[in-house]
Amino acid sequence: TVGEVGFDSPLAIPPLAESESDSSGARVFNLEIQAGETQFKSGRATETWGVNGTYLGPTIRARRGEEVAFAIRNTLDEETSIHWHGMHLPAVMDGGPHQAVSPGEEWAPQWTVNQPASTLWYHPHPHGQTGRHVYQGLAGMFIIDDEESEGMNLPSEYGVDDVPMVVQDKKFDGDNQLDDRAAFMSMQGILGDEILVNGTLGPYFEVTTRLVRLRLLNGSNSRLYNFGFADDREFSLIATDGGLLPGPWETDRLQLSPGERAEIVVAFEPGETIDLRSHPADEGYSGPLGRLNGAEDRLDVCRFQAAESLADETEVPSELGTAPDLDGEDVAEERSFKLSGFNSINGDQMDMARIDFGVREGTVEVWEVTNADGYMHNFHVHDVQYQVLTVDGEAPPPQLAGWKDTVQLVPQRKYRLAMRFSDYTDPNLPYMYHCHILMHEDSGMMGQFVVLGEGE
Ligand code: C2O
Ligand code: CU
Repeated sequence: TVGEVGFDSPLAIPPLAESESDSSGARVFNLEIQAGETQFKSGRATETWGVNGTYLGPTIRARRGEEVAFAIRNTLDEETSIHWHGMHLPAVMDGGPHQAVSPGEEWAPQWTVNQPASTLWYHPHPHGQTGRHVYQGLAGMFIIDDEESEGMNLPSEYGVDDVPMVVQDKKFDGDNQLDDRAAFMSMQGILGDEILVNGTLGPYFEVTTRLVRLRLLNGSNSRLYNFGFADDREFSLIATDGGLLPGPWETDRLQLSPGERAEIVVAFEPGETIDLRSHPADEGYSGPLGRLNGAEDRLDVCRFQAAESLADETEVPSELGTAPDLDGEDVAEERSFKLSGFNSINGDQMDMARIDFGVREGTVEVWEVTNADGYMHNFHVHDVQYQVLTVDGEAPPPQLAGWKDTVQLVPQRKYRLAMRFSDYTDPNLPYMYHCHILMHEDSGMMGQFVVLGEGE
C-alpha cells in the first residue's frame, strides 16, 4: 500500500466559475492562469499553478445550446494553452498546441455548446509540455447540463450530492515541492505516492443524502486507477466521458486511465464511514517490461462520513441516455493506428507542421487502434465522442457502452472506434489524437487530422 493518509481535511469543492452575459447573449467566463503557492501539507508551501487560484481551476458549467465565451489570460512567464477535453467545437477554439497563449497575452475562444450532458474537463496542451503544466496544477472540470438530464431525478446538487472529484497522484520532495523530474519513474512517466482530490490531500466528505453522485476525473499524468470502496459495495456507473450510459451498470470496481471520466452513484447508510480507494489495477499485462502502476499499489482516495439521518429524494432511473448508434452507419473510411514505443503512432512522432490526414465532413469513420506494446497506452480523439464497436472482435464491456473520447488500450488488443465528423471544417487547422499518458503525448505519441468540407 502506498499513500496511506489520515483523512483529516475536508474535501475542497472547486467553485463554480462565475460568468456574465455579453450583449450577444453569450456567457462570458474570465480565467486567469497564474503561478502561486498552495499549502498541501504542513511545512513549506508548494509552488503550484492554477486557474483563478493557486491550484486547479473553477468548475465551468453550461447548458446545451448555450453560447460560451472565455477571456483567458496567461500570467505565467511561459506559454501555455487551455484545451477543452471532450468538447465538440471548431478547431480554432480547441486550445491545442496551435492555440498556445504567450506570456501576458489573452485568448478569447467562443462556441455554442451542443452535446449531451456530460463531465468534460480542461487542461493545458502546449507542444511537448502538457505533462509538466498539468502536474503543476492546471486543470478543471467542465460540466454540461441538458434538458433530459435535468428531467431525471438524479443527485444533482453541486458539492452536496453531486460531487466533482479530480483525482491526481503526486510525489512531493523533502521540501514539499512537486518536481515532475523527481517523480519521473521511467518512460511511463510520473507516478506519485500521494493522492490529491480537488487539490486536497487526505480528504473526507460529509454525506448528507442517501445517494451521492461522484464525478470522477482521472487528472493524473500516468496512473491507472481502479476505484472501489473498502467494503467492496456495488455502485452504479451512470455516465462515462461523453455523457449518460443507456442504463446504469452495477459494479464494485471501475478502472479509469488518464483523462477518462465517470459518474457513479453510491448509496450510503446513516452514520457510516467508508473509504473510496484505488485498488491494484489491471493493466492487462504483468510481464517484465514494466507496469505503469506499482503492481501492489493500493491508494486511499477519500473518506465518506455519513450523517445520522440522510435525505432520500433522488434515484437512479433504469433508463438514462441514448445509446451510441454509429454501428449501423455507412463507413466512409477505415484507418488503423498502432501505438508503440512510448513516442509514436504508426511509426510517426508528432510534428506540428504535418497534418496526418483529412476526414470528410458529414461522414462516419472507423478507426482501428492497437496497442502494440507490452504496457498500457490509451487513446484520445479531439472534436468527437466515439462509439467503441469492438475490443478484439468482441462487444465492448459495459463501461465502454456509452460515448467515449478516451479509452484504455490493453496491451496487444485491437479497438474499433466509430466516429462521426459532423461539421466545423477547416483545411488548415488540425485536431489531435494521442495517448493521454502525458509523458507519451509529450514524447510524440500524437497525430493531427483536419475536417474537410466539400471541395477541400
Ligand atoms: Cu486531454 Cu489532447 O487532451
Ligand atoms: Cu501511451
